[in-house]
Amino acid sequence: MRKPIIAGNWKMFKTEAEAVDFVKKVKPLVKDVKDKTMIICPTFPALSKTADELQGSNVALGAQNIFWEDEGAFTGEISGPMLKAVGCTYVIIGHSERRQYFGETDETVNKRIRAALKHKLSPIVCVGERLEERESGSTFKVVETQIRGAFKDIDEAHWDNIIIAYEPVWAIGTGKTATPDQAQEVHKFIRGLLPKSVAEKTRILYGGSVKPNNVKDLMAQPDIDGGLVGGASLKPDSFSQLAMF
Ligand code: 13P
Repeated sequence: MRKPIIAGNWKMFKTEAEAVDFVKKVKPLVKDVKDKTMIICPTFPALSKTADELQGSNVALGAQNIFWEDEGAFTGEISGPMLKAVGCTYVIIGHSERRQYFGETDETVNKRIRAALKHKLSPIVCVGERLEERESGSTFKVVETQIRGAFKDIDEAHWDNIIIAYEPVWAIGTGKTATPDQAQEVHKFIRGLLPKSVAEKTRILYGGSVKPNNVKDLMAQPDIDGGLVGGASLKPDSFSQLAMF
């Protein structure tokens, strides 16, 4: 049985004070949610105070990126030990915005996954095709390349901690959600690419315009095990509605 996950990717939204305010408001709303894992991923400067405010709650903390070295002369980067020390248990890796704007490749995604696993952070690894790739019929090829590249030579023993997010780029922030059937088709395909021994227990999240009014239909699909949510995760009300689908 795969426990569903609702993860909020806050991208570059919310100051530290705004993040703390969100947590204060969301905690009582979701305190009885036991059947899902809830995660929020604020910006780096908000992690510390957010972690303090989350203490003792049923919501976990994640970061939005990780560098592959533990320390050194890497201006602007943040390492696994630093994320661990601040209270993170999850980290998003390879989001399409990082691939598009910051030169992320399947190779760097692979290095970041290794760093996360080394420091016992659960990576939420993002894959997904762009609009022109879907329209030209190469969705499966693109996703397969991303999955094979990301998980190249990752030991099967680590798979308990790995989470995958399928996020079609054309559905992110556009209000254009993939239909439950479109998403299910790709989720099933992704599961089929995973090592046999881990495929059935790995959680595959869907991301791309998930909202309180479409979450139920998406989550009803057999291979969709939760959501990685941008816009609708920013308000306590809608986050809590998502967590109670
Ligand atoms: P939206 O939910 O705003 O479409 O963002 C999805 C996303 O990119 C989550 O990582």
